Amino acid sequence: MSRQHNFSAGPGVLPESVVQQTQEALWELEGCGQGLAETSHRGKAFDAVFQRCKDRVRTLLGLSEDQEVLLLHGGARTQFYQIPMNLLRGGTAAYLDTGAWSHYAIEDARRFGEVVVPWSSREQGYDSVPAAGQWGSVPAGTRYLHYTSNNTIAGTEYDHVPEVDGTWLVCDASSNILSRPIDGSRFDLLYAGAQKNLGTSGVTLVVIRKALVEAGDKDLPPMLRYDKQVAKDSMLNTPCTVGIYVVERVLAWIEAQGGVAAVDARNDRQAAAVYGTIDATGFWHGKAQRASRSRMNVTFTTGDDALDARFVKEATAAGLHGLKGHRSVGGLRASLYNAQTDAAVDALVAFMKDFEQRVG
Ligand SMILES: Cc1ncc(COP(=O)(O)O)c(C=O)c1O
Repeated sequence: MSRQHNFSAGPGVLPESVVQQTQEALWELEGCGQGLAETSHRGKAFDAVFQRCKDRVRTLLGLSEDQEVLLLHGGARTQFYQIPMNLLRGGTAAYLDTGAWSHYAIEDARRFGEVVVPWSSREQGYDSVPAAGQWGSVPAGTRYLHYTSNNTIAGTEYDHVPEVDGTWLVCDASSNILSRPIDGSRFDLLYAGAQKNLGTSGVTLVVIRKALVEAGDKDLPPMLRYDKQVAKDSMLNTPCTVGIYVVERVLAWIEAQGGVAAVDARNDRQAAAVYGTIDATGFWHGKAQRASRSRMNVTFTTGDDALDARFVKEATAAGLHGLKGHRSVGGLRASLYNAQTDAAVDALVAFMKDFEQRVG
């Protein structure tokens, strides 16, 4: 079978050139005489990849000198508890509750201190995120505000960075990192599992301000201490070398596209094409409120479970994969991560129109 169009929510589509470079590197990494998966993480060849990876993160996110870049294990979900474990420590944190992943983060944080939730769309099936300034305020002394910049399951996304005053800003950017220009220096802690916009599963990017590294609990196992990870340059143990290589190549690919601004423009076009099809007639229904629509995960439905299931089946047979909505919410979802191709989006739009004509 040849490679087919991939709309999966993650692990998601990668740039083809990166897949090919990885194939070659698995055989031999950059002329070092050893395969990528077989060479030491402390060797010269991998170290070059690792340092380049961190440098590219710094440049693409516009980080400042007081921020550290870590490439850790455990997925974004490990950050759900590693953050409060280090930084909450019996204090109060505020969480914006905009989706299932935010909710899991809240549940984990409650083990380590008090959590206030100034804004939630849970009762509305997570169909929206707060507009700028809409979520209110946090109690005095709040350690940090946590938000999820893109809600992968519900298909909602912030178009702005929430303003905070006197409290640290923490963001789970797993499903939209580097999809639009953003001032990374605003974040006190920013994290993302790599398997959507950055690479493969097995690597979690964590950007953390030095003040937070220093403020972290010192009475934790070293693997869970940010200061120990910073001191050892994310190599307290063997890092996910293959995954870090892929992240470095994806970041180089973003630069070669013309940087985040160019990727942003393509994301805009692709999302507009799919939402335009959804809105064109009364056949499809977008699941998120319009002002909160995600450009990364387009959630929609025909309004009929059986018809949605038929759409997924026929789309799969036509070479369009991964269009089934998350099992917890049903419906349909097309993920349009940075590496999504125009050809795939064109094929999806054509298929949606054809399906509508046949069954609508
Ligand atoms: C927004 C968001 N946060 C966290 C996670 C969990 O990520 P991981 O599987 O890397 O732990 C996901 C997974 O899809 C996600 O979409």
